[in-house]
Amino acid sequence: MIVTIDGPAGAGKSSVAKRLAKQLGFDFLDTGAMYRCVTLACLRRGISLDQVESVAELARDLKINLGPHCVELDGENVTEAIRTPKVTKSIQAIADNVQVRSILVNAQRNWGQGKDAVTEGRDQGTVAFPMAECKIFLTAGPEERARRRVAQLLELGVDVSFEEVLELQNQRDSQDTQRPEGGLRPAVDSIMVCTDGMSEDEVLDKLVQIVDQRRSVLLGLNRNEPLSNSQ
Ligand code: DC
Repeated sequence: MIVTIDGPAGAGKSSVAKRLAKQLGFDFLDTGAMYRCVTLACLRRGISLDQVESVAELARDLKINLGPHCVELDGENVTEAIRTPKVTKSIQAIADNVQVRSILVNAQRNWGQGKDAVTEGRDQGTVAFPMAECKIFLTAGPEERARRRVAQLLELGVDVSFEEVLELQNQRDSQDTQRPEGGLRPAVDSIMVCTDGMSEDEVLDKLVQIVDQRRSVLLGLNRNEPLSNSQ
């Protein structure tokens, strides 16, 4: 069974998707980490991010290993290095590169073969796994997402203004939604979960409930209770 979780930056996908996978005993794939690895490799090797062909060639050769606790790029632990603001700011050209998208989507599909897995990103339910058994679109209002981000950064000792975070987030939202290939949008058969006002534990409970319901439907145990697509 493949469970896809897509949604905008700051909706709390990563941590809850990881916890969901653990609770279900499924494998977990953070596809954003793959785009981050390609971006980091380009920055380190001085490959211009808008050189579509050269970037794709590099993406084809990279050995990206996404383990449960660390991300490895050509054998090096880059878990922290892929999360720097420089990588985040430079990622757009890589995520817009259709050749890179095709390489990474193929790698995601190969990884998912025969697995019970939770995959997380922007295009998992629409492009990478259109036949996934359970698709969730996790979202939250822009202000709520920005507030959460400010709180996270404060915990890390980074003092930023709410307005600054909100503006950067709005920029990322429009880049992610306007991307012609693999743009952020809910799959028609996805279940929308708005996490405004919910704690992470409450979101996790909700997702477990959705997956359980979906499994029951798939097993034919619950034929009279179709899922609503708004939860
Ligand atoms: O989820 P994240 O913030 O780590 O993702 C980093 C960037 O990668 C994000 O700006 C959009 C892009 N991305 C994408 O285009 N498709 C995915 N499946 C996952 C991430």
